Amino acid sequence: MPTLDAALSGTFAIGGDLTVNRLGFGAMRITGKGIWGPPEDPDEARRVLRRLPELNVNLVDTAESYGPYVSEELIGEVLAPYAQGTVIATKSGLTRTGPDEWHWLARPEFLRQGVITSLRRLKLERLDLWQLHRIDSKVSHEDQFGAIAEMQQQGLIRHVGLSEVSVEQIEAAQKYFRVTTVQNLYNLANRKSEAVLDYCEKNGIGFIPWFPLAGGDLVEGHDDARAIMDKHGASGSQIALAWLLKRSPVMLPIPGTGKVKHLEDNVAAAAIELSDEDFATLDKIGRR
Ligand SMILES: NC(=O)c1ccc[n+]([C@@H]2O[C@H](COP(=O)([O-])OP(=O)(O)OC[C@H]3O[C@@H](n4cnc5c(N)ncnc54)[C@H](OP(=O)(O)O)[C@@H]3O)[C@@H](O)[C@H]2O)c1
Repeated sequence: MPTLDAALSGTFAIGGDLTVNRLGFGAMRITGKGIWGPPEDPDEARRVLRRLPELNVNLVDTAESYGPYVSEELIGEVLAPYAQGTVIATKSGLTRTGPDEWHWLARPEFLRQGVITSLRRLKLERLDLWQLHRIDSKVSHEDQFGAIAEMQQQGLIRHVGLSEVSVEQIEAAQKYFRVTTVQNLYNLANRKSEAVLDYCEKNGIGFIPWFPLAGGDLVEGHDDARAIMDKHGASGSQIALAWLLKRSPVMLPIPGTGKVKHLEDNVAAAAIELSDEDFATLDKIGRR
């Protein structure tokens, strides 16, 4: 039985004062097909959430738009009152019109509704980490960033994060509030956000790579990577997660699943320590 302890991934202090174990959990998959409605097996989804504190997973990523509301409601039902040190990171800024349909919406009144109702669903008095799901190009920076700064000043939000942004957008937002995390698509096989990751590392901003497991197939299908999997007795996904954790001390992967077995498989990756040589081999495979 491998060691199952997310604390083995090390810690990162979001905003300098909110310390989490770096390997977190993405709660988008505890919803129905198309990230719409309730999950196929709600009891298994509840078991997944209940297992998180037992595995020392204390960073849980969600959004009002997952379901919509389903993910936050399940988290509030199962995990509140929260174990000490648990950070629920939620988001607003996307509205939903059906399965797999997502639309930008960051008008100030919608962002405020998101924050106020996330507090209710998550049974919290303040959101430790609230992320703007997407910058809305139809809304001025003054309006959307200004509304966020105001909610932070009012104590509704502790730390603010952004999602799917460039370095220029991070810098534009920093004029209104401190950006403490950035959540962009990133994995061993998809390196488009490399410059954003480097910027985050240089500036002490947590980098939350979404779709972190996607590098797993690449690892499985490559002869040089196979040797690394065999050495660690690990799957391709586990090696892809271990690679992410070694890539940067600000990396906070949030693999998502609706199954306890898969959650345990993912947390087991926190115990894998890749050598510098194995890291470089995987890096080269990923960049190709
Ligand atoms: N900011 C954004 O725009 C954005 C966009 C997408 C996602 N996210 C966040 O990022 C998190 C992760 O992203 P993601 O869910 O797209 O990608 P992911 O975590 O890389 O992959 C999830 C997929 O892999 C499967 N899976 C998970 N663990 C597995 C295992 N051990 N063995 C086999 N299959 C496994 C899951 O299905 P099962 O449920 O069957 O395990 C699911 O289909 C989400 O939960 C969400 O919180 C953010």
